[in-house]
Amino acid sequence: MEDNSVRDTSEPQGDQVEQTSQTQTNAPVKKRGSFTGKIGFVLAAAGSAVGLGNIWRFPYLAAKYGGGIFILTYVVLAVTFGFALMIAEIALGRKTGVSAINAFKKLNKKWAFLGVLCAVIPILILPYYSVIGGWVGKYFFTYLTGGGASAAGDKFFDSFIASPWQSLLFFAIFVTIVFVIVLFGVEKGIEKSSKFLMPALVLLTIGVTIYTLTMPDSWEGVKYYLLPDFKKFSVKTVLGALGQLFYSMSLAMGIMITYGSYMKKENKIESSVHQIEIFDTGIALLAGLMIVPAAFVFSGGNPETLGQGPGLMFVALPKVFETFGPVGGGILGALFFALVLFAALTSAISLMETVISIIMDKFSLSRRKSCVVAYVGTLVLGIFPALGFGVLSKVSISGKTILDMVDFLSNSVLMPIAAFLTCVFIGYVIKCRTITDEIELNGRFAMKKFFNVMIKYVCPIGIAAILITSILDAVGVFAL
Ligand code: PFF
Repeated sequence: MEDNSVRDTSEPQGDQVEQTSQTQTNAPVKKRGSFTGKIGFVLAAAGSAVGLGNIWRFPYLAAKYGGGIFILTYVVLAVTFGFALMIAEIALGRKTGVSAINAFKKLNKKWAFLGVLCAVIPILILPYYSVIGGWVGKYFFTYLTGGGASAAGDKFFDSFIASPWQSLLFFAIFVTIVFVIVLFGVEKGIEKSSKFLMPALVLLTIGVTIYTLTMPDSWEGVKYYLLPDFKKFSVKTVLGALGQLFYSMSLAMGIMITYGSYMKKENKIESSVHQIEIFDTGIALLAGLMIVPAAFVFSGGNPETLGQGPGLMFVALPKVFETFGPVGGGILGALFFALVLFAALTSAISLMETVISIIMDKFSLSRRKSCVVAYVGTLVLGIFPALGFGVLSKVSISGKTILDMVDFLSNSVLMPIAAFLTCVFIGYVIKCRTITDEIELNGRFAMKKFFNVMIKYVCPIGIAAILITSILDAVGVFAL
């Protein structure tokens, strides 16, 4: 393993993901930084990947899409589609040395539009990601101020998200914290603390999981979560798992291209990708194992409650914490939500940095002005999903709230399209060799044949088939 301890401090460090403007802009063009070593790269990429997607989104999707069958589909997709796409994006970034919006253009002018498509996705995600970040903030605050018992009440979550001022307030606080960190460029401190706070989150999750598994009925939940029931399998399961995969691994939105552009040539891409995938998937599986059986226990084994949707984590966990009594439960709840808040912040910071670099590149604004535009834009766009459970709850399409709709649009429509086009671009325009040569710069690419087949055939055909089938389903051509 590379030595990660010696750093050249004169260079901006990549784990801060410094977004350097590559086009002609008025912004001060800084020297492009790079990660000091493979560990630095893996940690930074995992820091962006591990967030609410793993802890909040994965468990509720697993519950919604039939438990074990979703997990199986997800893991299969992660080691095939996820692996190929992450390799492709990181190598593309390292080869071009520029962020997503310019990487495609640099290799082929006609494909500049794909960089723009990738750029739109984080702009869509950041506002509603921050709404959920606000929910976590609210729970943290409630536990901190001794309100743990009320947080475990049946109506607490629903009345909180329905209250316009509360959801707006906590959303605005979350975005403001992200903005201040990014504006003052103090992510470095955050990155440093993540080295011990993220392992603390994992340990706490393991502890809560073990505790929950000692409760009656929990094994029914574990069986539901882990044993696949093939009758529950449909194209919706695959689309749900695919969207979650992109979201969780920060794929198909240019993030990994940008990270790749900061990676040093001597670091190995293939083994880094294995490590990021194991990390990201491991934490998601663990979070599900904590939340799904807990939901089973407190509903008396009624799988209906698993259809909670986005509220699953917020409804199930306070009930677990409550069993520790007012003091123990209060401390546990505050600690848990503080750590989740931290994971959400690190991911939101990397999303906002991406949005800022897009604004700098496209509109030739300074970094400071771009920060303000990203902040105000996120605040405005986030109002809609924040109010979507209260005053705007009537705005819905086939039962989907505004938050669900944006989530579906980005994860289940735009990301698959971006991923499909990325495969076509690599497989048929610049050709797989451009990417595999980059990976082979420092040694053998063990899964090269597999990668080629995935990028040229399996991924594009698979993604197109899933997308078309689900669009036909959505417009009612046939029911799946
Ligand atoms: N991968 C993050 C998660 O699972 O929470 C979400 C995310 C963070 C996506 C940062 C994109 C990003 F830039």
